[in-house]
Amino acid sequence: MKKTIIFLIILLLNTYVFAEDFKITHGPYLCNPTEDGISIVWTTNRPAVSWVEIAPDDGSHFYAKEREAHYITQAGRKLATETLHHVRLENLIPGQKYMYRVLSQEVTEWESRNNIKFGKMADTDVYRGKPLGFKMIDKGAKELTFLVLNDIHSKASFMKEICKDVNFNEIDLIFLNGDMSSYIESEEQLFKDYIDTLVTMGASRIPLVYVRGNHETRGRFSHQLINYFPTKNKEFYQSFKCGNVNFLMLDCGEDKPDSDIAYLGLADYDAYREKQALWLKDIVETPEFKNASQRIVFSHMPLVGNQLDLWHGNLHLQKTILPILNNANVQLTFSGHNHRYAYHPSKQGVANFPTLINDNQSYVICKVNDNTISVQIGGTGGVVRSFNID
Ligand SMILES: [Fe+2]
Repeated sequence: MKKTIIFLIILLLNTYVFAEDFKITHGPYLCNPTEDGISIVWTTNRPAVSWVEIAPDDGSHFYAKEREAHYITQAGRKLATETLHHVRLENLIPGQKYMYRVLSQEVTEWESRNNIKFGKMADTDVYRGKPLGFKMIDKGAKELTFLVLNDIHSKASFMKEICKDVNFNEIDLIFLNGDMSSYIESEEQLFKDYIDTLVTMGASRIPLVYVRGNHETRGRFSHQLINYFPTKNKEFYQSFKCGNVNFLMLDCGEDKPDSDIAYLGLADYDAYREKQALWLKDIVETPEFKNASQRIVFSHMPLVGNQLDLWHGNLHLQKTILPILNNANVQLTFSGHNHRYAYHPSKQGVANFPTLINDNQSYVICKVNDNTISVQIGGTGGVVRSFNID
């Protein structure tokens, strides 16, 4: 009996005295940019009601006045049971600079009906330091600069190392072109694999554009990935316009046939690619896509290559997606997956657009304007290639 009482006292002390302070544990980071919208994602160590305060970055102090608050709601009610928080901001002004802070208030108890209790608040700093912020890309932007990373396979510190010479002040967007993780088993792993490091590299200010790789379909937590890179249609395949450029992100699915033992009987990617092709047929007919000055595609797995590199997934992409892209006036496709650099120029009868396959040791910086697309490829040894796309 005595032992039980001592055990209970220790348990209570652990719970109430030594409990970790309520805090923001990961992020915030920006993702899913569109012409007039952006998403902000972060996590807390315990459930909370969360929101973002935002204001034009007009030189005034964040505390100059009450700032516009955007709560995380579902069907009109603020969410109060989650630790992963995602605010979607819409109707932003292209070209405008914004400052923001994220805030969460802990929900300490909600046992039944009206018995909700709130605790401490946590926020990002707007008092001592400069508030976090971002710049919406102007509709008439003459030039865009974006960074492409792929096949990092959970090596976060290596990712940072290969980007040591990148000037992130010049980067408008960061594309993650697949296989950032090898498997996805938990939330903690996702942050450790690359997201936390990207936040230290600038992802609180530069939007991440996530393109799923085949490895990110694997692991028991992989079906949750979309919640960390939320999209409007809840699919990984997306299209959006920034400045005069239309970006198209494809979801390549898996590389081997769906029936392969590696997929544990869970793969259904042939049907998924066919569904995606129907979506793509409509997208390439939209005015946003057709009227862009440049159309740039991302597909983790290449649609072209040497015969030995073309597995079932690539060949199925050739069958379902490639004929649509071949008639869509595409200027360039970025791929990865092979862990080897290759550049395949546009070739009539194969692919009517060039494909740049980045290796797993390099970043690509791409500058694009109405007339030119130039790329610079570098890594730990500095810049290794620099050329204009034909
Ligand atoms: Fe891959």
